[in-house]
Amino acid sequence: MKHRRSDFPEGFLFGTATSSYQIEGHAQGGAGRTHWDDFAATPGNVVRAENGARACDHYNRYAEDLDLVAAAGFDCYRFSTSWARVMPDGRSVNPEGLDFYDRLTDAMLERGIKPCVTLYHWELPSALADQGGWRNRDIADWFAEYTSVIMGRIGDRMYSVATINEPWCVAWLSHFEGHHAPGLRDIRATARAMHHVLLAHGRATQVMRDMGLSNLGAVFNFEWATPADDSAAAAEAAALHDGYYNRWFLGGVFKGAYPENVLEGLGPHLPANWQDDFPVIQTPVDWCGLNYYTRKVIAPNDGAWPGLHGVEGPLPKTFMDWEIYPDGLYQFLTRTARDYTADLPLIVTENGMASADVIHAGRIDDPQRITYVEAHLDAVQRALAEGVPVQGYFIWSLMDNYEWALGYEKRFGLVHVDFDTLVRTPKASYHALAAALKA
Ligand code: FCB
Repeated sequence: MKHRRSDFPEGFLFGTATSSYQIEGHAQGGAGRTHWDDFAATPGNVVRAENGARACDHYNRYAEDLDLVAAAGFDCYRFSTSWARVMPDGRSVNPEGLDFYDRLTDAMLERGIKPCVTLYHWELPSALADQGGWRNRDIADWFAEYTSVIMGRIGDRMYSVATINEPWCVAWLSHFEGHHAPGLRDIRATARAMHHVLLAHGRATQVMRDMGLSNLGAVFNFEWATPADDSAAAAEAAALHDGYYNRWFLGGVFKGAYPENVLEGLGPHLPANWQDDFPVIQTPVDWCGLNYYTRKVIAPNDGAWPGLHGVEGPLPKTFMDWEIYPDGLYQFLTRTARDYTADLPLIVTENGMASADVIHAGRIDDPQRITYVEAHLDAVQRALAEGVPVQGYFIWSLMDNYEWALGYEKRFGLVHVDFDTLVRTPKASYHALAAALKA
């Protein structure tokens, strides 16, 4: 790798990220059914109808996995706690679930790794989905209760806490596009989820403030929108994509306002008196996390609102078919600080790529992943040079895992996982990063 730890400011944090359903093996330890189990069991939703029942068996192999995090020289490990493992029916507590996260926390601390937890990375208990899930305003209270239960157990040892991973995926991708659980395609459900996800974020943040916890953040996923041509219509379409993908969430949390162009479509479907919720939604956070992977080239169309679609772009693509566009990360870091967060620390909480990695004679060569990470670290350095307060960079992901609707096919890991034997083999990118972090 061309970068060295010493090329970054003193105290800059390097980490790697995973999430519970994607690695733990949800069938174990008394976890409850989640809407992802239901989504995967519905034909046509997930490649080969795969689910997270076994995944990487991290539930039993976490010590080996944390050894890999430590041996690479990462400062931080971003993991998530599963709501359905902690509260299988969304209401009552599973002591085994709490014990697991307690063990996991101590295992990080024993290895000198800073625990960076995310409270929700999509394991909504099915029992709560039955009551409307993210469409139901009560989810803010349900989530606050879960937050106090899990943080009551491990909050004292967390380095940082993020509330909800990628509100856009929770709301839009899952309720408008139907690509993630619960697989709805309904504008009214979408509008409610878009609002309730931020309300739940705010309530959970309040609960943690009341518990005296600190270093609390919000994590958003951003996708840069490039107009397909020079027309005014394409510019408007790209601005709308930017609105419902990116600006909605930043606007809600940091300005107490939603973008006008998005309200044109979602406004009629928002719950009554939604404006009154902004004081909760705007509960101050200590940092803002950005998950960044790609951009989309946006063209207008004559369809119903939002009247736009993505078209194929010219740039090289990853195995996800996502264009590689490091400049988008630079743009988001600078724009977020300029327009929304000012001096608040920014952290790149996810960045990485999938490739069709194979083992040859016990080795996995993934030079494309090394190049991808280098290009995005360059973008971070450009932002730093302009004074943007970026404080950390986390690679998605520690190891190959359950890539949601794409099953086990898309490998994002620094460590290869054989999903038959569950053997872990560090890839060339893992070794390159380890060398860079030690240098
Ligand atoms: C993000 C998710 C993460 C993983 C990566 C590839 O949107 O947070 O779980 O799926 O994309």
